[in-house]
Amino acid sequence: MHLTDRINRIQASPTAAVIAAAEQLKARGVDIADFGPGEPDFPTPDHIKKAAIQAINDNKTKYTATPGIMPLREAVCAWHKRELGSSYEPKECVVNVGGKHAIFNAVSVLIQQGDEALIPAPYWVSFPDIVKYAGAMPVYVPTSAEDGFAVKAAAIEKAITPKTRLLILNSPSNPAGGVVPPEEFERILHVCKKHNVWLMGDECYSHFVYAPHKPYSIASAKDSKSHVIIIGSVSKTFAMTGWRIGYTLAPEALVQASNKLQSQSTSNPTSIAQYAALAAMTGSMDAVPPMLAEYEKRRKRIVEGLRAIPGVTCEWPGGAFYAFPNVSAFLGNSPHALAKNCTELSRKLLDEAQVALVPGEAFGAPGYLRLSYATSIERIDEGLRRLEKFFTRAAAAV
Ligand SMILES: Cc1ncc(COP(=O)(O)O)c(C=O)c1O
Repeated sequence: MHLTDRINRIQASPTAAVIAAAEQLKARGVDIADFGPGEPDFPTPDHIKKAAIQAINDNKTKYTATPGIMPLREAVCAWHKRELGSSYEPKECVVNVGGKHAIFNAVSVLIQQGDEALIPAPYWVSFPDIVKYAGAMPVYVPTSAEDGFAVKAAAIEKAITPKTRLLILNSPSNPAGGVVPPEEFERILHVCKKHNVWLMGDECYSHFVYAPHKPYSIASAKDSKSHVIIIGSVSKTFAMTGWRIGYTLAPEALVQASNKLQSQSTSNPTSIAQYAALAAMTGSMDAVPPMLAEYEKRRKRIVEGLRAIPGVTCEWPGGAFYAFPNVSAFLGNSPHALAKNCTELSRKLLDEAQVALVPGEAFGAPGYLRLSYATSIERIDEGLRRLEKFFTRAAAAV
C-alpha cells in the first residue's frame, strides 16, 4: 500500500508494543509481573467520577467550544496559578485530548522541515516521533546518571544551532525520573531566550516528585511567557488516563493556532470528560498526597530491590513512577552475555521470567530498562523475586 512519507517517518509506540505482548500472555492465563504500563493503578477519585455522571444526566453531551468549555479553561489557569505559580488567562489556554495531543498540536504549529527540536535523552518515546511527523529533526541532548538524568543548561546551549526552534523538556521525566531543579531550569530558560528557542515544559508528572524536590513550573519564572509553552494533563495527577484531558498554556497566538488545528481534527475534547476535569481542577486535591506517599514506598522497595541484584545499578528517580536500572553488565556479544541488547533482554525476561518491562532503546538509552512502579507492593515483590532469580542464575552460569 502506498502510504505518505510523513506516516512512514514514525513508528508505533514501543511501550504500547510491550504492553500488547504482555496482554497476549495474560490472556492465555500466564501470570505476568507487569512493570510495563505508565499509568496510575489508583481509581479516579469519586468526586470526579460523580461530576461526569452528573454531566451525562444534565445532557452536557453535545459539542463544546473547540478549546474547551470556558469554566474549565478558567479552572486550568486558576489551578496552575495556585499550584505552580503561573499567570495565564483563558485566552492563553486550550484544552486538548490528553497531554500527548497537546504536544502534538503545539509541535505541529511551531516547527517544520529544516527545523531542529532539542530533546534531552533518555526521552519519552513520543517526543521524537511527534517532531519527525512535523517534518523537523529531533536532536538529542545527553544527560547523565550522576546528574539524576536532569539536563543541564550548558548541554542545551552546546546543542543549539541556527536551526533550533524548540526544546522539549519533560520534568519530572519519563522514563528516568529526572527532575530539573528550579535554578537550572531558569538557566535553561535564559539560554532559550538568548537563542530565541521555544521552551516546551511537559509537566504531566508535576505533582509526583520526592523530597527534596517540590512541584515546579518554569511558567513561574519572571518574564518567561514569551518563550514558554506549558503542557499539562489530568492523566497522572488525578489518575485519569482514560478520560483524555490535557491542556496547553502559551502565548495567545500559539494557542489560537493550536485551536485552529484542533478545530479541523478532533474538535473539542469529550464534553463529559471536560466536566470531570473541571471537578478535578476545582475540587479537593486530597487524593494526591496519598498517591504520592504510596509511590514513594514503592520507589524505595523497587530501587532497593534492583540494587540488591549483583550487576544491576539504579539511581533514585527524583519524580514520576519509573525505576530505570542499568543492566549493561549483562549485555554484549560474549558467550556469557544474556542478550545483545535490552530489546532482546526484555523479550527474554517476558518469555523466561514472565516479567514485563520496557527496553531502554525505546527511550534512547541502550543498557537500561524501564520498570513502572505504578503497581502494588505485592506485585513489585513478586517481580523482584523473578528478576533476582533470572539475573543471579545467569551470573552463576558465567
Ligand atoms: C512524559 C509524558 N508526557 C505526556 C504524556 C501524555 O499523557 P496523556 O496524553 O495521557 O495526558 C505521558 C504519558 O505517558 C508522558 O509520560
